[in-house]
Amino acid sequence: MPLLGIDIGTGGSRALVIDDAGSVLASATEEHADFASPETGWAEQSPDDWWRASRLAVGTALDAASCAASDVRGVGLSGQMHGAVLLDAADSVVRPALLWCDQRTQAECDWLTETIGRRRLIELTSNPALTGFTLPKLLWVRTHEPKLWERVRSVLLPKDYVRFRLSGERATDMADASGTLLLDVAHRRWSSEMLDATGVDSSMLPTLHEGPDITGRLSADAAAEIGLAAGTPVVAGGGDQSAGAVGMGIIRPGAVSATIGTSGVVFAATDVPALDPEGRIHTFCHAVPGRWHVMGVTQAAGLSLRWFRDRFGAGDDGRDPYDRLADEAAAAPAGSDGVLWAPYLMGERTPHVDANARAALVGLAAAHGRAHVIRAILEGVAFSLRDSFTILDAMDVPVTEIRLGGGGARSPLWRQVQADVYHHQVTTLAAEEGAAYGAALLAGVGTGVWATVDEACDAAVAIADRIDPNVADAAVLDRHYARYRALYPAITQVLNS
Ligand code: XUL
Repeated sequence: MPLLGIDIGTGGSRALVIDDAGSVLASATEEHADFASPETGWAEQSPDDWWRASRLAVGTALDAASCAASDVRGVGLSGQMHGAVLLDAADSVVRPALLWCDQRTQAECDWLTETIGRRRLIELTSNPALTGFTLPKLLWVRTHEPKLWERVRSVLLPKDYVRFRLSGERATDMADASGTLLLDVAHRRWSSEMLDATGVDSSMLPTLHEGPDITGRLSADAAAEIGLAAGTPVVAGGGDQSAGAVGMGIIRPGAVSATIGTSGVVFAATDVPALDPEGRIHTFCHAVPGRWHVMGVTQAAGLSLRWFRDRFGAGDDGRDPYDRLADEAAAAPAGSDGVLWAPYLMGERTPHVDANARAALVGLAAAHGRAHVIRAILEGVAFSLRDSFTILDAMDVPVTEIRLGGGGARSPLWRQVQADVYHHQVTTLAAEEGAAYGAALLAGVGTGVWATVDEACDAAVAIADRIDPNVADAAVLDRHYARYRALYPAITQVLNS
């Protein structure tokens, strides 16, 4: 019987149907309206738009899979993390949701850090206060929109709003809850200390579940609206990073993923909550019961290349623009003849935790051309992910295999650059279908297709290709990584002068 995964992304909602061997039967994506940015650094979306888009995507995917509503065995959810959906006593949305990439909450983060203390915050939640996380958003609304805050009765994460529309349950999973700054990540429960310290009422929060738990069943109304059968089990799933990791088989210590989408993420599963005392790496619960993960985030990874494409063009010969850019970059040697790219277009999380960091292209001479700049961007993004591997190494998190995901896995040149920069063999997967795939696998575990997440991944995830580092190029890139490390302090000095 087919399983359905729904991923509520930022750009769109994606529905994916798999069979009980984990093979993809069909998928469909419905775009969201662009997020609103009423002020610089703000990012807001309408939760109703996610419900609209997911309904359409589910309908198209089921049709394409020639799958009847009553065939679907279970639904799993994943989605953009950290967003704040605020509902009133009548369960109406109080204001547009504040998204993960919204940066308006520096003052609230400073207040949390001063009031609770940086070290204590990490003790309580395993993480520092970051502008993207949910709690600072709640505090911002409370301070700046007190009339609206008075009406708020419940707070949900983005995918959990869709869950609420599907089943009427206010529920979330441990992985997504980890990005709120309200979860005691080590003990997998809401943190009463954080709630007390901030005066947020625990009755506002959803119930907590492990990724494969069934949180509710499709209501008759929702079933009619979305084209599924009433009573279909809805499984907790996970925030997009942990669900994506399940889809790539990153579920136990050892294999680590490096995924280059809009942002870039290095993700490792751990058996215990591993902490970076400096809070440069997120420590979250995994969507796998009883496991955790650590994650380093580069804000503008694929976005760096997209920025170049949008600003400087990629030509137009009918091929994918990213393929054309990669072909151009291949004309430059490893190390881009000295050109370096620091990818801080959107501030940076790992390793600098600096919302005000800015990008730089350094080392240009008259002889350099587009090829050098594009290659420098591919290398700079990989250097930035290497920073995360460097921290994992210092934390003794094992890395026995690096699985590539996202756009960085599709380009042969970027794959090789990553192998060379990480000094490690990298692998690609037979089916790399992102977070919706992991959500569908979790739905399968929750509804008994597989006994555990490990069993699901062992059955469904297969390696397609292995790429070894090129020894000579890796040595060149090592020298350039050392130069790259000097960029952030220098840029900061210039910006502050
Ligand atoms: C994770 C993160 C992103 C968002 C949007 O910390 O910020 O993955 O979930 O995709």
